[in-house]
Amino acid sequence: MIRVGLVGIGAQTKENILPSLLQIPDIQIVAACDVSIERASEVKSYVRDVQVFKDVTTMMDCMGLDALVLACPPQAHRDISLLAIERGIHVFVEKPPCFTLDELNDMIDAAARKRVVTAVGLNFRFARPIQQLRKMAASEKFGRPMHVQINHYASKPRAPMWGLSSTLRSFLLAQTIHSIDLTTAFGPGHVANVRSSVQHAGDAMLAQIDISFSSGHTASILTGSMFPYFEFDMKVISDKSNMVTLDNLWNITLHDAEIASQVVGGDKRWRNAWQPGPLDSGYVRSGYFGELTGFFNAIRTKTRFEADFESMIPTYQVIEQVCAAEVQPGLVVPPATLHVVAEKQRSVARG
Ligand SMILES: NC(=O)c1ccc[n+]([C@@H]2O[C@H](COP(=O)([O-])OP(=O)(O)OC[C@H]3O[C@@H](n4cnc5c(N)ncnc54)[C@H](O)[C@@H]3O)[C@@H](O)[C@H]2O)c1
Repeated sequence: MIRVGLVGIGAQTKENILPSLLQIPDIQIVAACDVSIERASEVKSYVRDVQVFKDVTTMMDCMGLDALVLACPPQAHRDISLLAIERGIHVFVEKPPCFTLDELNDMIDAAARKRVVTAVGLNFRFARPIQQLRKMAASEKFGRPMHVQINHYASKPRAPMWGLSSTLRSFLLAQTIHSIDLTTAFGPGHVANVRSSVQHAGDAMLAQIDISFSSGHTASILTGSMFPYFEFDMKVISDKSNMVTLDNLWNITLHDAEIASQVVGGDKRWRNAWQPGPLDSGYVRSGYFGELTGFFNAIRTKTRFEADFESMIPTYQVIEQVCAAEVQPGLVVPPATLHVVAEKQRSVARG
């Protein structure tokens, strides 16, 4: 039984994290903490014998916890993770784990020293349709993914969040973090080059981000808060002229030139479709169940979790580059700089 403490009993914990945790076997939520003790006490309605706290250090020092699951503002993710890691407690934090690449590197170093398992809540990566898309794109028959194209439309945030001064950084950390993370999941290699442009209209913005990876694959993301509502679609194109598309995190279509010629005599417009099963539970489909289960499995097997702090380095490199280019338009961070950070990533991985 893994003894879990929850931190930050706001909307995300109540709507997604807690219901998912309640479906996971062999873990026990023993404590809950929020700076508002009233919010922490709400967990008592769902979990028997849970102790509630308004101070996280007291909770960690009293409760003999194995793991913390946090859904707070990023500065609390950063500071509380470091306190937990120091005590040898494994940590899962909702995205974003922190504000900057430097802060992320400090968190990675601390976790490596204490050998704790870390995780960042990037539920898109674990959502059923994305898992299915990744499986298709990884097959030999599909070919080597050459390009990932993502349209990640949103209507907010349009103002700085969490005490930051930059709306752009807030938007990238709140929204685009998911899509940048996904572009890194479709091929090996580190970030070699990033080019971006950001346009503003009133308080809304539109950003185009192009990324090249050292392994040769590329990605482009069109994102921003200038759209009327949230919409997400992506395409992966392979070196065998196959293409898989995902519409609105739901429908997958495989455009396969070879099958088309075998099955329908060369009609190139033929395509194959996939959808989540109607009985997939909402938390499985949206990825929350999968990411939390993966975190606890990594604790049990003493292995790295695929979406750990270290896995976020390429994503934060891209965020830093996009923010720097807005301040100094046309600036492209020399690949050598990105390479130094990638080297650090490898040396941390080697322990
Ligand atoms: N994966 C996703 O797609 C997704 C979706 C929504 C939210 N989130 C993330 O979840 C996090 C929380 O979002 P939310 O909408 O629940 O916010 P919220 O404001 O509703 O809840 C945050 C809670 O954390 C508490 N808190 C703040 N500092 C604390 C501290 N030092 N110690 C203990 N408690 C503290 C606050 O009192 C509040 O109850 C954010 O980082 C957000 O980006 C992720």
